[in-house]
Amino acid sequence: MKCVDDFRLRLGEHELVPIMQGGMGVDISTASLALEVARLGGIGHISDAMVPTVADRRFNTKYVKNKLKQYKFNVENTDKSVVKFDLQELADATRMHVRSAMDAKQGNGLIFINCMEKLTMNAPKETLKVRMHAALDAGIDGITLAAGLHLGSFALIEDHPRFREAKLGIIVSSLRALQLFLKKTARTKRQPDYVVIEGPLAGGHLGFGMDWDQYNLADIVVEIRDWLKAENLDIPLIAAGGIFTGSDAVRFLEMGASGVQVATRFTVTHECGLPDKIKQEYFRADEEDIEVNQLSPTGYPMRMIKQCPAIGDGIRPNCEAYGYLLDASGSCQYIEAYNREVAAHPGERRVKVMDKTCLCTHMRNFDCWTCGQYTYRLKDTTVRKADGSYQLLSAEHVFRDYQFSKDDQIALPAVEA
Ligand SMILES: Cc1cc2nc3c(=O)[nH]c(=O)nc-3n(C[C@H](O)[C@H](O)[C@H](O)COP(=O)(O)O)c2cc1C
Repeated sequence: MKCVDDFRLRLGEHELVPIMQGGMGVDISTASLALEVARLGGIGHISDAMVPTVADRRFNTKYVKNKLKQYKFNVENTDKSVVKFDLQELADATRMHVRSAMDAKQGNGLIFINCMEKLTMNAPKETLKVRMHAALDAGIDGITLAAGLHLGSFALIEDHPRFREAKLGIIVSSLRALQLFLKKTARTKRQPDYVVIEGPLAGGHLGFGMDWDQYNLADIVVEIRDWLKAENLDIPLIAAGGIFTGSDAVRFLEMGASGVQVATRFTVTHECGLPDKIKQEYFRADEEDIEVNQLSPTGYPMRMIKQCPAIGDGIRPNCEAYGYLLDASGSCQYIEAYNREVAAHPGERRVKVMDKTCLCTHMRNFDCWTCGQYTYRLKDTTVRKADGSYQLLSAEHVFRDYQFSKDDQIALPAVEA
């Protein structure tokens, strides 16, 4: 049987190991993780989710504190439409985040940024435009547009000098979504350089309804592959979602995918941004602990570990500090759910909100444990220590296991002293 290393992903002048480490917001896919993947010859993703918050943590800026100070007068108000992002600060934070990663880059791989369009930030077009422009300014190798694909997004950066040079990709979960995007984008005379096809077993938000289990990644890959061929379109396809071993990856590469995007196996690496004690929760999770629910205010189903503190929590919305999910009119489904519970339980100090979660606050605090379906297999990828905890892995170990393993084997790490 072949291994992933028998294949190469060609993107323009680049020849890469066909492994993309997927973006994991809010700084779960850290720059250190993406840098390791790029050093080893693959493509690593950082994420621009809540980037001012991430900049505060990494570079000691005060974006969140200042925004809260500016809008403090509105905290008790249920109408959040006045809470706006300062576009200059958003650009600065993005540039800082991207530049520090690009400055540290080594090896032949690439670093892309995952840009979720569902982060509508109370001014969807303006904020998305700023985020993409700033990432290009700071030298990012490529941008992957995800979650809530805005059909006009290529046009938002058409005037950037790097528009035709940087790699631009999109994530879709159906042929129809791809067709719509290509149609809408035709005017820019710029096709995506790659298309990530994300199936129903992925982590984060899903591009399916609650009938996600009726779909199968391989079927979608074949459908899109055949359509592109019939249309004479040559766009590399990257399969994603539930690709857990090198051999799983090889099956997609043999089917005609040019690469794979993987994430879950990297959640338990030293370089991953989750706190170590939460990495242990990912290791410990069993199959019945993993659910797809509708708690995300974005309206997309999301996969989570059921025990995470975000579920059922009724924290007051923190839009004055964060507010990344406010739509163009300053609304968010969590605010509605929270207000309904407060009205139903007058005088109660802390309400419970069971149907939605304050995703900004909980992702920021690593309290929303989103994960891929095969998180329950992570315990089989490492060794257990005497105290019962699981040994963390290095990103290099996981990357090389994908790259070289055969016969559905998973290499265990050397036992640490
Ligand atoms: C913890 C976690 C967070 C994620 N966050 C994002 C995200 O912010 N944006 C996105 O487009 N995809 C996100 N994803 C999806 C991954 O980038 C990737 O496409 C998918 O999880 C691959 O499937 P796998 O996890 O089974 O390998 C996330 C996945 C995980 C596990």
